[in-house]
Amino acid sequence: MRKVVLLFGLWSLLSLSHAQLTDRAEPEGEEEVVDLFTTPRTKLAAATSDFGYNLFRQLAARDPKASVFLSPMSISTAFTQLSMGASERAEKQIYRALRYHTLQDSQLHDTLRDLLSSLRATTKGFKSAERILLARKLRLKLEYLNSVENQYGVRPQTLAGGARDLKTVNDWFKQQTGGKVEQVVPSPLSRKTAVLPVGAASFNGKWITRFSKGNKMENFQRDGEAPTLIPMMEQENYPVKMGIDPDLGCTIAQVPMEDGVSMYFFLTDEVTQNLTLIEEALTAEFVQDLSNTLHAVQVLLTLPVIKLSYRTDLLPSLSDLGLSEWLAETDLIKITSQPVKLNGVQHKVVMETAPEGAEYASTTPTAKGQSLALTYRVDRPFLFLVRDEPSGALLFIGKVLNPSDLKRV
Ligand SMILES: *[C@@H]1O[C@H](CO)[C@@H](O)[C@H](O)[C@H]1NC(C)=O
Repeated sequence: MRKVVLLFGLWSLLSLSHAQLTDRAEPEGEEEVVDLFTTPRTKLAAATSDFGYNLFRQLAARDPKASVFLSPMSISTAFTQLSMGASERAEKQIYRALRYHTLQDSQLHDTLRDLLSSLRATTKGFKSAERILLARKLRLKLEYLNSVENQYGVRPQTLAGGARDLKTVNDWFKQQTGGKVEQVVPSPLSRKTAVLPVGAASFNGKWITRFSKGNKMENFQRDGEAPTLIPMMEQENYPVKMGIDPDLGCTIAQVPMEDGVSMYFFLTDEVTQNLTLIEEALTAEFVQDLSNTLHAVQVLLTLPVIKLSYRTDLLPSLSDLGLSEWLAETDLIKITSQPVKLNGVQHKVVMETAPEGAEYASTTPTAKGQSLALTYRVDRPFLFLVRDEPSGALLFIGKVLNPSDLKRV
């Protein structure tokens, strides 16, 4: 249904550009169209993306006036580590929330480990670290600690219960993310902390073209409030894929970055902080369809230069994902025989969009592209995704209503 409407919407853009771009040569070697739902890896990535969209919707609904920023890959990985300590019943409940129940992948953990290692290739700019924190006094089962370490290369951290724990935890995450993510856990851990999954991620992917104009202060429009000045960067003839979705009332651009990563922007026609329609449309399938149907054009691209940083405890959102029954009885019997509750789910994400790119823009102007003068200007509330195209994995999802909401925390 959505796809049809979108195709229709794209048609006007498509026909417009065909009329004016016919003699612009298409780049050689069209990208392979990836079918999202065929290999274990792309299936897992799709499931995790759908989990991410669900979680994002829950968070966005909790406070419609707040900016939100998450790394679904990281949160999902932390929960997968936790699920290794769960009873069969509890594992089922967690898998359902993570959308794993559709996969029928007997090698699920190996698939995830391989996916993570490909996503963490340095050229993609994605870093993530996940660890389960456990109170030592719980009489932990060594087999659990060993199997998580064997599978994911990270041993759950045992907490001594003193003031030192906080520094040990935060230092580890900082080191794992190359210094990018600091203070994952903001305040000293309570002595009562028993089980605390933590996930952190950072992104500083490179644009395929360096932005020639960077850091010029310009207005960012806000819904019902005065505009705010933020640094913006600009580049002519940036190759993007674009489309108009009249049903969602927005223009969508897929901006390619280095090593198969794309950033998608959803920009509403009106300046509004109500992005509900777009939020509700997001699924792995919808975004995959987008990447196959958006039309390649060159635009005058203007993006905010921002450092986003966001920290949240996801525990309150988990019940909205169908986990309330599990939260009441976590059944983490392979971790400890004592009944335990989750003390929180700490998540922190950091991202920078600097003008730097892998290469300078080509100086040869595209003959007809110039006169077309398509512009794409992200200067008002927007929703964005960062996606790994070869696998379809959703690395990040965010909603920026006011860039200063997502200042360093
Ligand atoms: C946001 O937009 C949706 C869809 O257009 C609408 O149903 C909803 O009432 C709006 N919410 C607010 C708070 O205006």
